[in-house]
Amino acid sequence: MLIRVEIPIDAPGIDALLRRAFNRVDEAQLIHDLREDGQLTLGAVATDDEGQIIGYVAFSPVSVAGEDRQWVGLAPLAVDERWRGQGIGRQLVYDGLDSLNEFGYGAVVVLGDPALYARLGFEPALRYGLSCRWPDCETRFQVHRLADDALEGVSGRVEYAEHFNRF
Ligand SMILES: CC(C)(COP(=O)(O)OP(=O)(O)OC[C@H]1O[C@@H](n2cnc3c(N)ncnc32)[C@H](O)[C@@H]1OP(=O)(O)O)[C@@H](O)C(=O)NCCC(=O)NCCS
Repeated sequence: MLIRVEIPIDAPGIDALLRRAFNRVDEAQLIHDLREDGQLTLGAVATDDEGQIIGYVAFSPVSVAGEDRQWVGLAPLAVDERWRGQGIGRQLVYDGLDSLNEFGYGAVVVLGDPALYARLGFEPALRYGLSCRWPDCETRFQVHRLADDALEGVSGRVEYAEHFNRF
């Protein structure tokens, strides 16, 4: 298994994985649209020994209270069903966070299961006065700081790229 940054020829494999993992087309379409619009900050794939794509994570820009703070949102994260429970999801997220840290990004937000993301170092965003547009935000919206001072004096509504408004 190898984890690396996505390249253009990965697109069909990523599309197929996302459709399988989520049992619908929405996440695959989201990635397609973000990529087309140049709004994918970082995409990382996990591949098996034959080079098939078995895992994927993407990060795209978000604003905080209308300002660009060099923060990104993590979505989606997916691992092929046959490969789950082996730490691939964790490795994809950690590799992504490492790269974003090196590139100088301040923080990463995610809307997802706290049981999963707390294990990966995310904290409730509500703790920092951060909110999002979705109704289950209070319990499911989380943040992971990259820079030590990234969360200081920052609060308000976090907005993702417009393509997320379909959810
Ligand atoms: C969620 C998903 C990406 C996890 O991938 P994975 O490779 O099986 O995850 P890992 O093996 O790296 O697990 C990482 C940690 O999260 C935990 N975890 C994994 N899936 C979890 C889940 N659904 N709920 C709660 N905790 C979970 C694991 O127990 C592990 O913690 P531990 O090491 O402390 O035991 C995978 O199940 C998936 O693709 N699901 C369908 C798509 C999806 O729901 N994505 C998330 C959208 S926000």
